[in-house]
Amino acid sequence: MTTKIILDVDTGTDDAVALMTAALSPDIELVGATVVNGNTVLDSCVENTLRVFEWIGMPGVPVFRGMSRPIARFQAVHNPATRIHGDKLDLPEATIKAQPQHAVDWLIDTYLASDGDITLVPVGPLSNIAAAIQKEPRIVERIPEIVIMGGAHDHGNATASAEFNIWLDPEAARIVVNCGRPIRMVPLDATHRALVSLEDATRLRALGTPAGEAAYRFISKRIEGYDATQPMQRMGAAPVHDALAVCAIIDPSVITTRFAHVDVETSGELTTGRTVCDFRFSGRTPAEANFAYQPPNVEFALDADEPKFVAMLTDILGRTAG
Ligand code: RIB
Ligand code: CA
Repeated sequence: MTTKIILDVDTGTDDAVALMTAALSPDIELVGATVVNGNTVLDSCVENTLRVFEWIGMPGVPVFRGMSRPIARFQAVHNPATRIHGDKLDLPEATIKAQPQHAVDWLIDTYLASDGDITLVPVGPLSNIAAAIQKEPRIVERIPEIVIMGGAHDHGNATASAEFNIWLDPEAARIVVNCGRPIRMVPLDATHRALVSLEDATRLRALGTPAGEAAYRFISKRIEGYDATQPMQRMGAAPVHDALAVCAIIDPSVITTRFAHVDVETSGELTTGRTVCDFRFSGRTPAEANFAYQPPNVEFALDADEPKFVAMLTDILGRTAG
């Protein structure tokens, strides 16, 4: 039984691993990829997405160009972590093209025409998703689940308080988090507990597949960038955030979640983009009236199974198209 998904990406290096994992997994039917401004400028995110599908021999996966900036804030901001992503991926220039339809319109058309069986997987800023919901609210009831890579409870990366995807477009994130549909959030609290080492990446290259080679190039770049600018609990290893969100669809046990109320700060001087999680009641309704209590709305991941994650990547990226 495969799961139909749409991946919304701001293709950088971990989005690229997520795209390959989704495209090659026998458990997923990748309906299409929508692209949003984030890790780098939109045109480069689109080019990188096309390069990935052409490189792994799947040029037929439709790619759609989306929002080039946040839905409410004025400037198009990009990830300063250029040592982790760069601008263009280390793959040959794409010869295939994106589809002519705008990503927001394709999302609307696809969900209105669907049987309500396409999981939505945003792994970049949520500008495309929020824009689609605002333009056509009827799509919300057609989305069975939203699995978001984003957010942070214990510590941010874009700021001390906020994770990059949420921070870049907090108004969009707030719309999506409050849309009323089932949401699983894969935040830094989980992705930073599922690191991929240089030895793991070398084993991916040794698979001898296009995806294994590309994953080695992307992950080794990430490790160099993280060691230099954002060292994890051990050197020589890096998170591959977006791929963990895809693996959580294939095998939900790869992450551990808590059901809690989550909302997004959009006006804090120091905390804009923070995912504010209320774990106080552990899913219970407070015995006494509590003016701040709001019912849980998100399965928020606080842990991950690193060996299982690495094993899943190794199995899936060892496959070839067709
Ligand atoms: O904070 C990690 C997220 O920001 C990932 O999706 C990465 O690709 C960047 O977009
Ligand atoms: Ca991303």
